[in-house]
Amino acid sequence: MNVKKLAGEKAVEFVKEGMIIGLGTGSTAYWTVQKLGELVKNGLNIKGIPTSKSTEKLALEMNIPLVSFSDVNHIDITIDGADEINPTLDLIKGGGGALLREKIVAFASKKLVVVADESKCVKKLGSFPLPVEITPFGYEVTKREIQKLKCHTKLRKINKNEAFITDNRNYILDCYFESIIDPLHLHTKLNLIPGVVENGLFVNMTDQVIIGYNDGKVKVLDK
Ligand code: A5P
Repeated sequence: MNVKKLAGEKAVEFVKEGMIIGLGTGSTAYWTVQKLGELVKNGLNIKGIPTSKSTEKLALEMNIPLVSFSDVNHIDITIDGADEINPTLDLIKGGGGALLREKIVAFASKKLVVVADESKCVKKLGSFPLPVEITPFGYEVTKREIQKLKCHTKLRKINKNEAFITDNRNYILDCYFESIIDPLHLHTKLNLIPGVVENGLFVNMTDQVIIGYNDGKVKVLDK
């Protein structure tokens, strides 16, 4: 059973005619975009704003009309995946490296709906390494300052010698904390460090989470 598909497809129930929709990134949001494509084919009128180049490509393949922030000043709903979700619906995102665009799109949205399989639900954030997007210039300085927050870091790479480059031409530093006790505090600390563009903590942003369970059930959790 494809649990990610169950959750991803369920999310389109939140979509209404005429909406501007933030289109998430990853293997769960993929199913949302696919389903939206089907609905558009059958006459639904929506417009999308993708959270990554890969989602933009998928949306174009599905003939979903796209807009940018120069065309609209709000988004009705964003549907996106997550790497970890805690009981207050705070998230770690950025496993796919799209966290900056994901956060901007979520921030501009009236509503953020997260789609995930049950493995993403945790008591405390931090088992998944926290992705932090940093500028290539002076990244050593930025990295050292981040390490002072009591984590060890790994520069994300695509192979032995080449760094992973985000859609915004930055690096990702994956940060291993023992556990993240106060996500809002850590988020604030990280974003104050020069060279940090954004971090993967999404605090107080989520409105609803749709979880797909291995037994085939799907649940909607409200804030
Ligand atoms: C992309 O950078 C991430 O934030 C994804 O949304 C997240 O990794 C969820 O991915 P899956 O749905 O593929 O598990």
